[in-house]
Amino acid sequence: MFNKKTIEDMRLKGKRVLVRVDYNVPLDGQMNVTDNTRIKLSLPTINYLIEQDAKVILMSHLGRPKDAVDEKYRLTPAAKELEKLTGRKIKKFDETFSDEIKSYIDNEMQPQSIVMLENLRFNPGEKKNDPAFAQKLASLADVYVNDAFGSSHRAHASISGIAQFLPAAAGFLLKKEVEILGSLLENPERPFVAVLGGSKISDKILVIKNLLGKVDSLILGGGMTYTFLKAQGFEIGKSICEDDQLQYALDMIELAKKNNVKLMLPVDIIAASEYAENADSKNVDIGSIPADWEGMGIGEKTAALYVQEIKKAKTVFWNGPMGVFEFEKFAFSTKEIGKAIAESGAVTVAGGGDTLAAIKKFSLSERFTHISSGGGASMEFLEGKVLPGVAALLDK
Ligand code: 3PG
Repeated sequence: MFNKKTIEDMRLKGKRVLVRVDYNVPLDGQMNVTDNTRIKLSLPTINYLIEQDAKVILMSHLGRPKDAVDEKYRLTPAAKELEKLTGRKIKKFDETFSDEIKSYIDNEMQPQSIVMLENLRFNPGEKKNDPAFAQKLASLADVYVNDAFGSSHRAHASISGIAQFLPAAAGFLLKKEVEILGSLLENPERPFVAVLGGSKISDKILVIKNLLGKVDSLILGGGMTYTFLKAQGFEIGKSICEDDQLQYALDMIELAKKNNVKLMLPVDIIAASEYAENADSKNVDIGSIPADWEGMGIGEKTAALYVQEIKKAKTVFWNGPMGVFEFEKFAFSTKEIGKAIAESGAVTVAGGGDTLAAIKKFSLSERFTHISSGGGASMEFLEGKVLPGVAALLDK
């Protein structure tokens, strides 16, 4: 249940509505957006606001500029892309805030039109959550809307501070993300299987722990599994390993037993002579990785066992590849698992940058119930944290 006010709870007619979107999108260096997914995802909220006769003022960050203007991070390409998608003229300002911008919005801007501010991170007040900057932004509007789920784990001025100065409500994307990810934690259809991969345990410490209190099965793949294998005394050769996480890995194995969760780890590995596309490689049982070789992903027997488990699921969450899928030769396991999830018939939710890249590479996007627009934000949500961007909104 989403217990925060949304745009549907607000009076918006003729109002100046300041909308935080997440247009942190990839660019090609020639002022073109190469993946407009995040811009498309903001359209339901923008269209609704236009239908309500609001004046729509968009704001976002892009990339990680160093608190100052950086030409390559201007939001102009995102504004151009939004013009293409909406067929409307967007007035894009070259500053985040100025008296001229305020005067334009107050005196000239018409309801049902859209303007866009410049990259919020050009201003040092944004990341510092400076109340003075938040107040300036707030002075442009009557209502604040957060539709930037992907940035809602950041306690920045445009995400959290601003809500002290304006009535604050959620956009449709934010609401949808919180409802879907929230239902995984609160009332998933069972069996609930989480599939976690990727190279580092340290990125997933809190997620693994929290999910071990929620799932029926936790499937682990990718680079993080070598730490689990080494912790249990298996030879892992030169595979990636976080020695400072060995005890954590053992603790998680114990926690899974205590919580009656089926924790699945690889039984075999694709090992390679070096970290390279054309390396010599072979499928070996765990413990048999040659001392000067390294693991490149889960092996064939493991993939088959994981697929069987996924087939039984009614809910699946996936984050992180099962191996080095960027190299064609080692992509099979991530592809197999991704396909099995997509075809499982379960409620399927995916999140995280690498996972999205894999889903795209294997053309599985259309077959997932929900692909989260947030990488870090979806992980922090599944860690059980209340995101600052959600906490700041008005309660229902
Ligand atoms: C993202 O792409 O995950 C969000 O836009 C947040 O970006 P950030 O990690 O630079 O805060």
